[in-house]
Amino acid sequence: MTGAADTLERSLTNSMIVAAYREKTPTSERLAAEAHELFPSGLTHDSRHLTPYGIYVERAEGSHKWDVDGNDYVDYFGGHGALILGHGHPDIRAAAHGALDDGTHFGSGHEMEIRWAKLITRLLPSAEKVRFTASGTEATHMALRIARAFTGRPRILRFLGHFHGWHDHMASGVHSHFDGSPTPGVLDDVAGAVTLCPPGNIDAVKNAFQTHNDIAAVILEPIGSQTGQVPHPPGFLTELREVTRAYGALLIFDEVVTGFRVSRGGAQAHYGVMPDLTTLAKIVSGGVPGGAVAGREDLLELLDFGAAVRNGRAKIGHQGTYNANPLTAAAGVAALTIIAETDACERASRSAASLRSSLNAVIEEASVPWAAYGEFSMFHIFTNPKGRAIKAGEFDPLDHDFEELALKPKETIHKLRLALLINGVDVTGWPGGTVSVAHGEADMSHTAEAFARALHLLRQDGEL
Ligand SMILES: Cc1ncc(COP(=O)(O)O)c(C=O)c1O
Repeated sequence: MTGAADTLERSLTNSMIVAAYREKTPTSERLAAEAHELFPSGLTHDSRHLTPYGIYVERAEGSHKWDVDGNDYVDYFGGHGALILGHGHPDIRAAAHGALDDGTHFGSGHEMEIRWAKLITRLLPSAEKVRFTASGTEATHMALRIARAFTGRPRILRFLGHFHGWHDHMASGVHSHFDGSPTPGVLDDVAGAVTLCPPGNIDAVKNAFQTHNDIAAVILEPIGSQTGQVPHPPGFLTELREVTRAYGALLIFDEVVTGFRVSRGGAQAHYGVMPDLTTLAKIVSGGVPGGAVAGREDLLELLDFGAAVRNGRAKIGHQGTYNANPLTAAAGVAALTIIAETDACERASRSAASLRSSLNAVIEEASVPWAAYGEFSMFHIFTNPKGRAIKAGEFDPLDHDFEELALKPKETIHKLRLALLINGVDVTGWPGGTVSVAHGEADMSHTAEAFARALHLLRQDGEL
């Protein structure tokens, strides 16, 4: 066990919150013990890490999920952001069932992939052509490859804290290795071909372009790092567009979370800033595994057999057994049809705004120096690691730098999550979550009450 994990384990040993959690979730505890025998840390995704163990879920519907002990939770994990329409939307369910009946893999083209790509090019303003992948990680990997092949330059500029999946070029500077050094298993040369800039700092970007004449692309989460926890100052995207154009580098928006959430046309439509390439996953595939790269035709042409012959150059190779598989395509078409034809994005955003203000009312009532903040259909809890005097309802994340917003007191957050689980609410480890159209008034008031009780428990446990 590492030092930090050891401290966390010890701080939780005598906790009343942990004792109550164990009492409520005995079957999850048993399954977690079994999982430990099979998976590193008993986990299949780092973001699901929770000490002493996470819940095991049996079933989900709408805004709720039920664990193996029969406990009911209002869910803000939202399938890691994939489920803006909630769990098990009837249209997506019907489409997926139909696809299962017709066959899940044809090893050939099918009409649904065309319908799917047409919806993407209709909704996403900068999408002229599309290539499907099996995940968001694969999509960002491909986007970098296209950028390098197009520009003939090796270097990628990223921002500290921005998450783009787990492949080698994206590993440093997200949760650790903020100096750009390689994380375990990554080659020095790969990490060395990435320049990391402080988020939202256009001068740092300009300096990087002046220092390095080999930058192929800038990639970022367009609403700020990790689903908007560290937002950009106004105008940043426009300036970034101008700088990248001036230096002949591509601008890649990673809209894996923001695509079809921030607005029907993603962050690019909302801000009116057009990237050269966009990476997509999550909502695009209706909550089943999938992803895509979309963008300028002359860039996607680098994957084209005919264009390679015409231009006398090698094409970018791209396989992928599950690219545009019929099941994913059917779910994606169903999800994007609802996004296109209803006000789902606006409704989810309105519900999240109301949730953020209820949480802030609870925080102020409890006199805790925290704040709930965020934009669109997201919420984040600022846990004030530097103990500043803040007023929850007036909190502005732009007054705080990356380090302060990203710094999280691990013990307190684990306990907050456990205290919320005891009270029937599941939030992510940011801490925060995404809100769907399925979250209604009753969910919001239940969440606010659960949050008030959780703060009380944290106080009793000596955390506040
Ligand atoms: C902004 C962003 N990019 C890329 C990814 C990676 O997507 P996937 O988990 O489908 O590989 C994620 C996943 O959370 C993400 O949030």
